[in-house]
Amino acid sequence: KQTRSQFPKGFYWGGAIAANQAEGAYLEDGKQPSTADIKSRGFFGGLRRDADYYPTHKAIDFYHRYKEDLKLFQEANFNIFRTSINWTRIYPTGEEDNPNEAGLKYYEDLFKEAQKNGITMMITISHYETPLALIDKYGGWDNRKFLNFYLKFVKTIVTRYKGLVKFWLTFNEIGNASVVPICWDAAGIDPNSDNLQQRMYQAAHHQFVASSLATKMIHEIDPNAKVGAMIAYKTVYPYTCKVEDVKAAEASKRKEYFFSDVQARGYYPSYIWRYFEENNIHVKMETGDEEIIRQHTVDFLTFSYYRSRVVSADYEEPAEKTSDSLEGLVNPHLPKTDWGWTIDPDGLRLALNELYDRYQLPLFVVENGLGAKDKVEEDGLINDDYRIDYLAGHIKAMREAVADGVDLKGYTMWGPIDIVSNGTGQMSKRYGIIYVDLDDNGNGTGDRVKKKSFEWYRRVIESNGDIL
Ligand code: BG6
Repeated sequence: KQTRSQFPKGFYWGGAIAANQAEGAYLEDGKQPSTADIKSRGFFGGLRRDADYYPTHKAIDFYHRYKEDLKLFQEANFNIFRTSINWTRIYPTGEEDNPNEAGLKYYEDLFKEAQKNGITMMITISHYETPLALIDKYGGWDNRKFLNFYLKFVKTIVTRYKGLVKFWLTFNEIGNASVVPICWDAAGIDPNSDNLQQRMYQAAHHQFVASSLATKMIHEIDPNAKVGAMIAYKTVYPYTCKVEDVKAAEASKRKEYFFSDVQARGYYPSYIWRYFEENNIHVKMETGDEEIIRQHTVDFLTFSYYRSRVVSADYEEPAEKTSDSLEGLVNPHLPKTDWGWTIDPDGLRLALNELYDRYQLPLFVVENGLGAKDKVEEDGLINDDYRIDYLAGHIKAMREAVADGVDLKGYTMWGPIDIVSNGTGQMSKRYGIIYVDLDDNGNGTGDRVKKKSFEWYRRVIESNGDIL
């Protein structure tokens, strides 16, 4: 008998990656470069054309090795796998009239292979991998032209993969461009632009309209598929109980909620207009945009959760920070990862409750995990107990949220197999339960090795989250 604190039957368990961080083969079978392919050291390293090394060009060669990797996922009992479709495999420059058949075929084979292994596909349509040719020619998403390029791409893939993909996410971490400007790869907006905020919120508006039109299109083409929003969520705490700090924390939260508010509720929330006015932001909307956004909201909401943030009234915007810490102030009460990210499982329970209270939509945790350095012992074993602790803590927190009444559908841990870090370009920032023998310069055999956490996660899934 099902008890309150058990995950529902049919819960989705698995893992998530992004095409550009795993596939490699960056110019193979007609593909052209995307924004991800000019990140030499992750987005912190900026957009660079003159670097001697780009980790996404080879990545972990998932492009050629996916069968082996899907087998491992199946062995770990995954019933869901989330990845993205590399836009430039399908439309190499974004502007072609006809899609690239080799690219289409690749994903068809991949999805069929997943199906064969009993794995449901969740696809991020755009995961920081916009055609570079489009960015070079038209700037970023603040240019409305992107809307049609994106919709052409969506139509092609949804038509081709009808019945093979159950969950579509329109944009990875929508809003990161606006909230974390250094994350230029999200909407192609150079963080050094004049009128940065103006450009970013204009880009966001175009992505909202694009997302709603994509939702409409997907529902029409494949009525069995569901469409979700995907936001980056960091639970926010005020630094003290000083009212100024609480107000600052609330304001900071709203900056993040803005994106899911629009996508889940179907309209710009009232609070944003004041923010726009005070920051001299004028979002240009075309006739019909508001109607489109209102009519085509998402079916469910997904988010990434790695850590919480601390905000105070004296705190500077993350945009002005250059360090690896995007989370604001240090929380003295919580442990941190090797990369300074707070470890806060209770923050995930709070996140799930807040999001469910706010939207009453089914939720999915589609990214969560620990980036850590792993050591291969002399006997070849990788004893990543720290990763087991991290994941167990967060799964326990999800179980609490389920007991609180949250409608949680699934969990895809980030990077079940080690991949290139988005932020830093490192291989040594490892999330996987499967180790990949490659270093930060791409040296190594690329061989896959199960870590201790592999067997642990396999059993967690087998017990539907009962045994942690
Ligand atoms: C999320 C992104 O923000 O965080 C992923 O959607 C990314 O692409 C993940 O990999 C973890 O960040 P990082 O910098 O450790 O790879």
